[in-house]
Amino acid sequence: MQRWWQALGVSIQPPDEPIELRTGLLGIVTDIHGNPYALERILSHGAQLGVDRWLVLGDVVAMGPEPGRVLEQLAELDVVAVISGNTERYVLTGDRPDPSFDEVVADPGLLPRLVEVAASFAWTKGFLQACGSLDVLGSYLASVRLLFPDGTDVLAVHASLLKDDGPGITPSIDAEKMETLFPGVSADIVFGGHTHQATDLAINGIRFVNPGSASNHLEPHVPARYATVRLGDHDHHVELHDVQYDKGLAIESIQRSGIPGSDFLVGRYFAQVNE
Ligand SMILES: [Fe+2]
Repeated sequence: MQRWWQALGVSIQPPDEPIELRTGLLGIVTDIHGNPYALERILSHGAQLGVDRWLVLGDVVAMGPEPGRVLEQLAELDVVAVISGNTERYVLTGDRPDPSFDEVVADPGLLPRLVEVAASFAWTKGFLQACGSLDVLGSYLASVRLLFPDGTDVLAVHASLLKDDGPGITPSIDAEKMETLFPGVSADIVFGGHTHQATDLAINGIRFVNPGSASNHLEPHVPARYATVRLGDHDHHVELHDVQYDKGLAIESIQRSGIPGSDFLVGRYFAQVNE
């Protein structure tokens, strides 16, 4: 039987067979962005709740000060799968987010930004090469399907079924837009990260859940966020969690790390902490 994604010819195809999960408590974390301080608090909070394995939705290492330590933290866990985010692609392939070369030609004032962005991802790549961990990023998956013990069919992506960047799951998205991001999807639940906006909504019979980001929040007062799923034989229960942590530790780490664009990172994602 042809699967729905095979018929669509979508660019981010999940594997044919789902990963079948046993009962227990699944933790879902995304958009860690090289911040071990946020991840440490999430992992300890999850451990207290009884999380026994983790699903990671991407943007694990880049745009943050300690990519190597975050990979070490994840290596200690029972991980179901890690999805590759757009920033993993930037690190591995040399692709870059905006501004594009064409945009810089049209507006030369954007050149410093282009240089800083390029340098930031090159720094992360060099950091991971130096500690022999770069290949780990290449093992991440474009998307996965999961099968809960109660028969729930799950799709997990970074941003959408079409791309690892661009629009993704947000609280304000409407049904029409969601259909363009997840055309023809027949899953019961879709988990996605990328937008850094915690979301749990139902559209056309599908539950779309974004755990919110572990780090690099667009509103700096927002704490570290993740989700859990209690997996029973006959039901499941999704819950979103807020976890406070000392953002000052992340700011200090960014400032001493040498990552290019450190002032931008602190100003954009941690600014209110300093006020
Ligand atoms: Fe992200």
